[in-house]
Amino acid sequence: CTAAALVVRHRMKNCGKWTRAMNILKEFEEKCKTPVEKLKQVADAMTVEMHAGLASEGGSKLKMLISYVDNLPTGDEKGLFYALDLGGTNFRVLRVQLGGKDERVVRQEFVEVAIPPHLMTGSSEALFGFIAEALAKFVEEEGDGYHPVSGRQRELGFTFSFPVRQTSIASGTLIKWTKGFNIEDTVGQDVVGEITKAMEKIGLDMRVAALVNDTIGTLAGGSYYNDNVIAAVILGTGTNAAYVERAHAIPKWQGLLPQSGEMVINMEWGNFRSSHLPITEYDQALDLESLNPGEQIFEKMISGMYLGEIVRRVLCRMAEEAAFFGDVVPPKLKRPFILRTPDMSAMHHDTSPDLRVIGSKLNDILEVSNSPLPMRKIIFELCDIVATRGARLSAAGIYGIIKKLGRDIPKDGDKQKSVIAVDGGLFEHYTKFRNSMESSLKELLGDEVADNFVIEHSNDGSGIGAALLAASHSQYLGVEES
Ligand code: GLC
Repeated sequence: CTAAALVVRHRMKNCGKWTRAMNILKEFEEKCKTPVEKLKQVADAMTVEMHAGLASEGGSKLKMLISYVDNLPTGDEKGLFYALDLGGTNFRVLRVQLGGKDERVVRQEFVEVAIPPHLMTGSSEALFGFIAEALAKFVEEEGDGYHPVSGRQRELGFTFSFPVRQTSIASGTLIKWTKGFNIEDTVGQDVVGEITKAMEKIGLDMRVAALVNDTIGTLAGGSYYNDNVIAAVILGTGTNAAYVERAHAIPKWQGLLPQSGEMVINMEWGNFRSSHLPITEYDQALDLESLNPGEQIFEKMISGMYLGEIVRRVLCRMAEEAAFFGDVVPPKLKRPFILRTPDMSAMHHDTSPDLRVIGSKLNDILEVSNSPLPMRKIIFELCDIVATRGARLSAAGIYGIIKKLGRDIPKDGDKQKSVIAVDGGLFEHYTKFRNSMESSLKELLGDEVADNFVIEHSNDGSGIGAALLAASHSQYLGVEES
């Protein structure tokens, strides 16, 4: 064997490796395809499930939960309110001084606290105890510029971003955990009872005035600034949507018809599934090995908790079957969730000719050094396929809501644009995801109708939204200050 022959052999081996990896990539791409006709089928399936979920309790995978919010904020809300936002790896506590129509948000501040991972799968008492402590500390720091009314209990809007069967605006039982939380003894419990118990235990005198999902909070927060918000979507660690439904279109609603004639519905669309979804073997394996197999299938194809993990799984296959990273599979690559969506996003936004961001991520995360350009290019493509599929499916979901509301047909005369308020880290930070979602929605709506809609980023709307709903459900409403 001459040295030259060795070089040639090495090149051929490499070349074969890229071809094999490309084949895996192409096969994956084929299965992830979301042509517009397919998206329309997904949207139609979504509207069918929406009807079924509204018709009867348990009528669909889409729970279509009644939020007990039948009026959105008006701007008249006044006073000092607190909010607590629990739904991801961090929770936030917030205080806001509302000044009514003219002054609006006079002052606000918040702190964000990371939830220690062991509390996400521990006991209810430990989780709520930890949160109550942080809240108490925050309340103690209430400084000048806030105006509590003396003798009155402080009130809290509680954004709890998991599926809850509400029994009133300020009570509801947890149906199940999602997004990596798994605390058995909370399931079936009233989560307001849980936080109230924890607050009482440490002597924090506070009352939960409103219990809301983050989608509901975002809808309320968005409506505070813009009357034309018809729906809210979260694209973050998880994904979900809420919208304003006509009360008489909710057959399962047993209570009195609200005066407004409307009711906000928390769809819990993360749990949507349909035979039209482009599910691959990687999605199936991810689901099977997740904390909640068989659940939240739509969420597992779209949201920030999972996109990086899908990429990792495809890379694993390439490593095993195409020796993509050489003769050994990088040990780090075998670790579930090691590739986080923010890292995937950074790689996907790499514009340098030699894809150097991808190179350094591979080095830092997987300890793969000196990655050659063809490898980086394949990884770039892979990120694109996974993000595009997720973005387009989320657009299909929004289109489903628009269809359910009958707003997908061009109307003369109606010049008010309808607003979809969107929040969540995936939407906020993953620009290519966001752009793809927005352009796919336009594609689905068609030029004429697309003009009637605006997607608005409702930055941290859910915290303010919860405080606003606490204000409009305050126990002191209509009581004169003494
Ligand atoms: C998950 C939760 C849902 C929440 C969404 C976004 O899907 O089940 O309640 O709205 O994540 O945070």
